[in-house]
Amino acid sequence: MRHLGFARQLAWVALAAVVIFSAVLSTYIGNHARDILIAKQRNFAALLAENLNAQIYRRYTLPTLIGFGEINPKHPAQYQQLDQVVQSTTHGLNVSELRIFNHDGTVSYSMNKEDLEKAKPAEDYINEAGQGQDIVFNIDSALPYWKAFFHFPLPPHSFVLHTAYPLRIENRLSSSDATGPAIWVLEFSQDITADMERALRFQQLIIILTVVSASVLFGMLLLFIRRAENAMAVRMQEEQRLLLELHQNEKLAGMGRVIASIAHEIRNPLGIIRSSAELLLKRNAGGDGSTSRILQAIYDEARRLSQTVSDFLDYARPQRPKSSLVDVSSVISKALVFLEPDLQTREILVCHNSPPEHPLFVMGDSDLLYRAFYNIMSNAVQAMQHTGTLTIGLHEEMDDTHPMVAITFTDSGPGFPEEHLERLLDPFFTTKDDGTGLGLPIVNNIIVSHDGFMTLTNAPEGGARVTILLPSHPAPTA
Ligand SMILES: Nc1ncnc2c1ncn2[C@@H]1O[C@H](COP(=O)(O)OP(=O)(O)OP(=O)(O)O)[C@@H](O)[C@H]1O
Ligand SMILES: [Mg+2]
Repeated sequence: MRHLGFARQLAWVALAAVVIFSAVLSTYIGNHARDILIAKQRNFAALLAENLNAQIYRRYTLPTLIGFGEINPKHPAQYQQLDQVVQSTTHGLNVSELRIFNHDGTVSYSMNKEDLEKAKPAEDYINEAGQGQDIVFNIDSALPYWKAFFHFPLPPHSFVLHTAYPLRIENRLSSSDATGPAIWVLEFSQDITADMERALRFQQLIIILTVVSASVLFGMLLLFIRRAENAMAVRMQEEQRLLLELHQNEKLAGMGRVIASIAHEIRNPLGIIRSSAELLLKRNAGGDGSTSRILQAIYDEARRLSQTVSDFLDYARPQRPKSSLVDVSSVISKALVFLEPDLQTREILVCHNSPPEHPLFVMGDSDLLYRAFYNIMSNAVQAMQHTGTLTIGLHEEMDDTHPMVAITFTDSGPGFPEEHLERLLDPFFTTKDDGTGLGLPIVNNIIVSHDGFMTLTNAPEGGARVTILLPSHPAPTA
C-alpha cells in the first residue's frame, strides 16, 4: 500500500510538472509565433514604406516640381495628386492611417483631411525616424498581452503597428533604395489584431491540449492505482482470513485428534455397559419394576452415548468414499423407507419428483450418500414436528463447465434461524436438547469428499432448503 501511496503522490507531481511545463512551452511557442508574425508585418511595412517613397517621388514630387515649381501638398491640386498616389499605393493593404510630417513638425498630408496643419504628435518613434534617418516601428496595444489571452474575440485595433519612415529625395529613378536626405517623415498604421489573435489562439490551443491530455493520463493513472489498491486490499483480507482459518483448523485438528482418541477408548467400555445393561434387563424381566426402569435408563443413555461417539468419530475421521456408480434417486428412496415410520406418525407428506425414466448418476459411495441424505431428511422431519411437506427435487444443471446433479430438500418447517446460518456447519452446534450437532458437519464432509457442494438456505415461501450439487456421471449403457 505504501508503494501505491508513493505512486499516487508521483501522479500528482507529474500532473503539476506537465501543467507547468505546458505553460512554459506554450508561452515560448506563442511568443516565438508572435515574434515571427511581427517580423513578417514589419518586413511588409518596410516594403510598403519604400514603395510609397518611390511612388511619391516619381508620381508626385517630380511632376509637381516640374508643373508648379515648388512642393506644397496643402495646395488643393497638389493634395489631390498626392492623395491619389497614396490611395492607389496603399489600396487593399490594411492601412488605417497615413500622414506625412513636414520638417517644421506640422502635418503636410493626411489621409484624414482634418489632421492637416496640425502639429506633429510627440511620439518618440516619429522623431526617431526624422532624426535617425531610418525606419522605426512601434506596436500600440489597447490591452496588455496577458489580458488579450483571456479576451475573445479581440476588438479591432487592439494591436496596431505604426511605421515611421524618413522620406527622401529619390536619386535613382529605377531604384526603390532611397538613400537621399530625409525631407519628410511618413507615418502609417496597420491593424495587426487578426494576426496577433491567431498567435494567441495557437498558444491557447497548446495549453488546452497539453492540460487535457495530461489530465486524461493522470485520471487513468489514478484509476489504475485505485484498482491496484482495491485488489491488494482484497488480497490482504483474503490472506488474513486464510491465515486465521489455518490457525483455527490447526487448533481444531489437534483438538480433534485428542478427542477422537479419547472417544475411541470410550467406545469399547460403553459397548460393554450397554450390552450388560441389556443382559440385566432381560434377566430382570418380570422382576422388580424400579430396577428395570434404572436398567432401561442405563441402556438408553449408553446407546445414545455410543451413537454420539460413533458420530463424532465419523466426523473426526471421515471415511474415504468408495467409488462406484450410484443412482441418486434410489439412494434417496432407500433413506425414505427408513424414515417411513417417523413420516407416518408425524403425518408428513413427501414429494419426490425424480423422473424415473431419466435416472441421474454420480460416482461415489452409496452408503455415505445414504447417510448424508438420511441426516438431511431426518433434520427436516424433526423440524416439521407435526404435519408438513418434504419436497425433494432432482435435476441436472451446468456448473461452469461441468454437468452437476442438483438435489434440493425443502421442508415446510420454520426454516433455518437466520442468526444461526453461519454456524450450522460448526461441529456440536445444535438447538436440540438431544442433538449432537454433528449431523450437518458430517453431511458436509461426505459431500465435499464427493467433490460436491452443500448450501443451506431458506425457501422464499418459508422452510429450510438444503441444496446439494454432485458431479454428474453419464448413465451406464445397457
Ligand atoms: N430442516 C431444518 N429446519 C430447521 N432447522 C434445522 C434444519 N436442519 C437443521 N437445522 C438446525 O441445524 C442445527 C444443526 O443440525 P445438525 O443436524 O447438525 O445437528 P442436530 O440435528 O441438532 O443434531 P443431530 O443431527 O445429532 O440430531 C439443528 O440443531 C437445527 O437447529
Ligand atoms: Mg441432525
